[in-house]
Amino acid sequence: MSQNLTVAVVGATGAVGREMLKTLHERKFPATQVRAFASARSAGSKVPFGEGELTVEELKEDVFAGIDIAIFSAGGATSTTFAPHAAQAGCVVVDNSAAWRMDDRCPLVIPEVNPHALDKHQGIIANPNCSTIQMLVALKPLHDAVGIKRVVVSTYQAVSGTGQKGIEELERQVRDLFNGRDPENKTYPYRIAFNVLPHIDVFLDNDYTKEEMKMVNETVKILEDPSVRVTATCARVPVFFCHAESVNIETVKKITAKETRILLSQAPGIKVFDNPRELLYPMPAYCIGEDPTYVGRIREDESIENGLNMWIVADNVRKGAALNAVQIAEELVRRDLVRVPDTTVFA
Ligand code: A2P
Repeated sequence: MSQNLTVAVVGATGAVGREMLKTLHERKFPATQVRAFASARSAGSKVPFGEGELTVEELKEDVFAGIDIAIFSAGGATSTTFAPHAAQAGCVVVDNSAAWRMDDRCPLVIPEVNPHALDKHQGIIANPNCSTIQMLVALKPLHDAVGIKRVVVSTYQAVSGTGQKGIEELERQVRDLFNGRDPENKTYPYRIAFNVLPHIDVFLDNDYTKEEMKMVNETVKILEDPSVRVTATCARVPVFFCHAESVNIETVKKITAKETRILLSQAPGIKVFDNPRELLYPMPAYCIGEDPTYVGRIREDESIENGLNMWIVADNVRKGAALNAVQIAEELVRRDLVRVPDTTVFA
């Protein structure tokens, strides 16, 4: 790995930004300097980094000179505005927002699934949606082995997917309800405490939500295979961390549940946790802070010829966001790609 890198986290005061700093430190990312950026509101405040802390700097268009990699998690609007300035200054962006994911100029990368897509990057690389990441870590080995025709997925997504304000809303509403107060809905349109909302992100013309269509479109882009058909229902549940997914898969060739367990247990980034007799299956409360994508409840779908059901759980803030972004940065270093080409389309 090359050294002497300066790395920035943009959105460093947020739930994902803090996890990014933690992940960079834990994985000993080869940076000589790490800088933290957020809005003017937070400039001068401190965020933890390793044993110490970093002083938060205000994000401005001209801050990127001398920064090699900037990992963004400050919302789509910030990424849309600032990522091109970073690329123009020769700083490679790994962006966690949805702003650049479906842009043909930007690779959309899960290091266990399609690291080769980094090779032609133009300076902005997109981190996929959290629900897409954990689903595809589990689906890629199956697609390679037996071909995936169709996926029907239902998600059970944690409030941390909405950032710090989602975490605070659930906390506050639980406290209000236990104290006999009417809970106020500030972040979600309805109460999230002791409720389930079949609604994540905005509704689109086809009556799906944007989150659901992200899972459809990002899957095709990452697998580079439009023949894979996906349909999704995304729900927000009153869980702080870790998304769970029920995934039904129709494959081209037959694969048994036993063969699937063996295949997935040998695949990168996956932990098969599946023993119904011993009541072993993955659950959000037990996957917090964990790197792997957990897969359990693997069963053959008896209603079709070549079908499987499985249950996938991963920490959405970690593998679904911070860890995947840091793994992309590590892969850039490994492939000697920490540079923006002179011919970048973002110039
Ligand atoms: P700030 O704390 O200064 O508002 P979360 O998703 O957990 O809410 O975090 C969002 C992150 O994005 C925070 O670090 C927030 O900083 C940052 N952010 C939001 N808007 C901007 C902006 N215009 N410029 C820079 N950072 C921003």
